Amino acid sequence: MTARKIIIDTDPGQDDAVAILLALASPEDVEVLGITAVAGNVPLELTAKNTRIVCELAGKVDVPVYAGCDRPLGRDLVTAEHVHGKTGLDGPNLPDPTMPLQDQHGVDFIIDMLRSNEPGTVTLCPLGPLTNIATAFQKAPDIVERVQEVVLMGGAYFEVGNITPAAEFNIYVDPEAADIVFKSGVSIVVMPLDVTHKALVTKPRNDAFRALGTPAGIAVAEMTDFFERYDKEKYGSAGAPLHDPCVTAYLIRPDLFSGRHINVEIETSSELTMGMTVADWWGVTDRPTNALFIGDLNADGFFDLLTERLARL
Ligand code: RIB
Ligand code: CA
Repeated sequence: MTARKIIIDTDPGQDDAVAILLALASPEDVEVLGITAVAGNVPLELTAKNTRIVCELAGKVDVPVYAGCDRPLGRDLVTAEHVHGKTGLDGPNLPDPTMPLQDQHGVDFIIDMLRSNEPGTVTLCPLGPLTNIATAFQKAPDIVERVQEVVLMGGAYFEVGNITPAAEFNIYVDPEAADIVFKSGVSIVVMPLDVTHKALVTKPRNDAFRALGTPAGIAVAEMTDFFERYDKEKYGSAGAPLHDPCVTAYLIRPDLFSGRHINVEIETSSELTMGMTVADWWGVTDRPTNALFIGDLNADGFFDLLTERLARL
């Protein structure tokens, strides 16, 4: 089977980093056409820098990296240094990147790739706020029907909010962008907190990363050691939730995941519930289905896949 063409849109972020490493370690499954950085966990300058740090950690310096939007569509940027640290990639001590940032804007790269590849052959994988994706859809509406699928990390239903009582961070940062994407008609697979909070890096799992003894394995273990603080303190979790790697793992082994095709709409009016993903999990409305909302995963299978692929780097 030919590798699936993907564009990763990201705001590294330790969990973004692991998602990118998993993709770059799996060329038989995914062909990474390029990676676009977006402002989110930390400002754009840092997410664009961190993306290149991760590509160099993977030894994949030929992957083109683009800077996208530096702020949400209609509101001030909210960042998450309290979770990811000042650099956004706190934990390991990784060298500054030497690979260049592409001159083209990330949004224009997304548009060009969708127009130059056969319709239905490029998957978009947003791991941060949906600003770049929504901007591309607004600037070039013709590309929406050319997208194979959007597989994104964001939102929640049973887990409700992680940045406010009601909203998950990626959707909260740019709810207007999320509203555009969820109403666009594009085929969407959602990895919400409901499933990512089940992908916890317990100590044995993190020990397995470290035991790889490779720069990538050790760096992932060190990222997780830092990244887990927030969720352990807040939720009493058994380890860091690997939110974004659920997106990449789904592309490689969709059988590890399960969910429901439901309606998902975004709160964009009330400040109290701004950015909430109103997911009709129980089918109590007649709103049209617009997303495959993932609720569960085979966690051991997920970590076996991740550890096996990281060992390749
Ligand atoms: O809420 C978790 C999401 O927000 C993850 O993508 C994390 O990297 C941050 O972007
Ligand atoms: Ca992210």
